[in-house]
Amino acid sequence: MDQTVWADDQIQGIVRSVLVVEGDKHKQQRKVMNPAFGPTQIRELTEIFVAKSLQLRDIWAAGNANQGGHSRVEVLSWLSRTTLDIIGLAGFNYRFDALNENHEHNELSAAFATVFDAGAKKTMIPVLRAWVPFFRFLRVDRDKETEQSQATMARIGRELLQGSKASINEKSAWKTRDLLSLLVKSNMATDIPAHQRMSEHDVLAQVPTFLVAGHETTSTGTTWALFALTQNTAAQDKLREELLAVDTDTPTMDELNALPYLDMVVREAMRVHAPVPSTTRQATQDDILPFAKPFTDRKGIVHDFIRIRKGQNIQVPIQAINRDMAIWGEDAKVFKPERWEKIPQGASAIPGVWGNMLTFLGGPRACIGYRFSIVEMKALLFTLVRAFEFELAVPPEDVMKKETVVQRPVLASDPRAGSQMPLLIRPVVRA
Ligand code: HEM
Repeated sequence: MDQTVWADDQIQGIVRSVLVVEGDKHKQQRKVMNPAFGPTQIRELTEIFVAKSLQLRDIWAAGNANQGGHSRVEVLSWLSRTTLDIIGLAGFNYRFDALNENHEHNELSAAFATVFDAGAKKTMIPVLRAWVPFFRFLRVDRDKETEQSQATMARIGRELLQGSKASINEKSAWKTRDLLSLLVKSNMATDIPAHQRMSEHDVLAQVPTFLVAGHETTSTGTTWALFALTQNTAAQDKLREELLAVDTDTPTMDELNALPYLDMVVREAMRVHAPVPSTTRQATQDDILPFAKPFTDRKGIVHDFIRIRKGQNIQVPIQAINRDMAIWGEDAKVFKPERWEKIPQGASAIPGVWGNMLTFLGGPRACIGYRFSIVEMKALLFTLVRAFEFELAVPPEDVMKKETVVQRPVLASDPRAGSQMPLLIRPVVRA
C-alpha cells in the first residue's frame, strides 16, 4: 500500500519525514529513529512529563483558590498547551512556554500556529495532507504570512539541530535526552553505514512531524480520558484511591507503569476514544482483502474476500474495530476499565502495536511515539486526578465528536466556539 501521492511536494518540511516517506526511505528513517523512542529513552523523559503536569496542576489550583474552591476549566486547551510544552522540551529541547501567560509571543509557537492553524482559524489542509492521501492532490494558497512562518520554523529547526549536535559533542547527558538529539546520535552510530544515514534535511523534517503527530493527539486523548472518568465516577474514585496511595508527586516511569488501575483507565480511554479514528491506505497493486467471516450479498452470493484494484483508497476503521461488539461484547462502546482484567479472546487477533487495539495502528507504519504518549498520559492523569475531582460542566448529550484528523470534542449547543471540553474541578481534600 502506498501512503503518499504528492501533487506538490514543496508544501512542508514534513514531506521528507517518517510520517509520509515510503519504501526503503521509510525503513531507513525508522531504523535510525526507533532507538530514540525506546523504553530507556522514555524513562528519561518522564521527568519532563511529570514536571509539566505539576505546572498545570498548580495553575488550576491557583485559579481554584481565586474562585472559592471549585471552578470551570476548558480542559482541552489547557492540555493542548501542556502537551505542546512537553513535546517542545522532550522532542527537541525547545521551550514553548505555552503554559505561561505570554505564550503567544513565542516565535516558534506563533509560526506553528500560522502554518498548522492550531486555533482552527485558517486551513487544516497542511496537516490533513500529511495524514490523508486525498488531500495531497489539493493545491494550497500560500500567503506571505505562511511563507514567513515556514521560514521561521526552518530557521529554528536548523538552530535546534546545531544545538543537538553541539551538546552531543559536549557529551552533556542532560541536554541530549530529547528525541532530536537522540536521533542525531543514533544517525551518527557506527553500526549505521554511511549510505543509510539520514541527511540533515531529513533529520530536520522530523521536527514539525513530532509536533503534528505528538501534540494534539495526546492532549485530545487525555481530554477524552478525563471526560470518560466524569461519566464513570466509580472508576474516577477507584483511580484516585490507587493514585493517592503513592507517596510521591514525582513518580518515575516504572512507578507509573506499576499502577494497574491507571493502566486499565488509559487502555480503556484509548480504546473507546481513539484520538485518530481512522486512516487510509492506497493500493500499489491489484490485490485481495480476505474477510474474517464470509459475507452474503443481496443476490445470495457468498464472498470471503474483496478485490482491491491498484490505486484504490482503503479506509482503516480504527475506532470501529476498537468498539466492535463482536470482539468486546454488547457494551463495547461503554468506558469500563475493568474489562482489561480479562481481555476477550477475539481482541488478541487485533494486530495493533499496543494494547489489543488499533489506536496506534500496527505493522511497520505503526505510531513510533506510542510509548512516549502513554507514559505522558499516565503522568498527566496521575497528577491531575490526585489533585482534583472532575465533573462534566454541561449535560453529557451536549458533548459531540468532531471528526477531522484528530477527533476533538465540541458542544452541540455551541459548535461555533470550536473544540472544547468544559469540566468542573474541585480540589481533593486529603484525609
Ligand atoms: C494518543 C497519542 C497518539 C496517537 C493516538 C497516535 C496515533 C498514530 C497513528 C494512528 C499513526 C499512523 C498514521 C498512519 O499511518 O496513517 C501514527 C503515526 C505516527 N506517530 Fe503517532 N500517535 C500518538 C502520539 C504520537 C507521539 C507522542 C509522537 C511523537 C512524539 C508520534 C509520532 C508519530 C509518527 C512519527 C508517526 C509516523 C510513523 C510512520 O509512518 O512510520 N505519535 N500515530
